[in-house]
Amino acid sequence: MRDAGDIAVGEMERQHLNQVLAIERASFKMPWSRSTFEIDLDSDLTISLVAVQGEIVVGYCVGWILPPYLHIGNLAVAERMRRRGIATTLLRRLLSAGEQGGARLATLEVRPSNEAALALYGRYGFRVVGRRPQYYVPDCEDAIVMARALGGGSAPGREGPGCAIPPMIEPQPFSAGRG
Ligand SMILES: CC(C)(COP(=O)(O)OP(=O)(O)OC[C@H]1O[C@@H](n2cnc3c(N)ncnc32)[C@H](O)[C@@H]1OP(=O)(O)O)[C@@H](O)C(=O)NCCC(=O)NCCS
Repeated sequence: MRDAGDIAVGEMERQHLNQVLAIERASFKMPWSRSTFEIDLDSDLTISLVAVQGEIVVGYCVGWILPPYLHIGNLAVAERMRRRGIATTLLRRLLSAGEQGGARLATLEVRPSNEAALALYGRYGFRVVGRRPQYYVPDCEDAIVMARALGGGSAPGREGPGCAIPPMIEPQPFSAGRG
């Protein structure tokens, strides 16, 4: 189903947090806490967006702009509203904001078992650039690291055009992720 026509995207505010947390808890094994979202709402480095249908929050995303990088920290859509292009709309807005903020490479981590997210990011031009062993808690699943050039560049490969893949996203043996 593809019908995101009545969905509006705007900046996340504290008044959205109860609904955001409900989606977060239903979507991830290790959901972010309210205070994690609040810290991001207070940060100048963070872009936090919500997708709303009227007053109802149906999705959200969080990204950190550290030029030349935009790191996508969170993205989820309410289960009943999936496959309508809402994540695509959020992603487009987040990448555009990152670009305007000076980012030239978007990066993210995703579970190898998360077929929906891998398909979404792959379709949106992200390419696999590394793997972080045993990254996710509590189950120690690896993380796939994906990246996409911004600013009109083509999606990067290890030898390909676009932004060079930075050392910071080479696989690292630490465990910090959650879903
Ligand atoms: C991943 C997620 C954000 C996708 O949200 P969504 O709004 O359903 O995504 P979209 O409708 O924009 O999908 C765009 C494309 O991604 C791919 N895709 C999305 N969900 C998919 C699924 N379940 N299976 C296969 N492909 C999928 C498809 O190519 C889809 O296009 P199509 O519907 O025309 O076939 C959503 O499934 C979700 O919230 N999952 C739980 C949280 C999560 O895993 N977040 C990502 C963490 S890295």
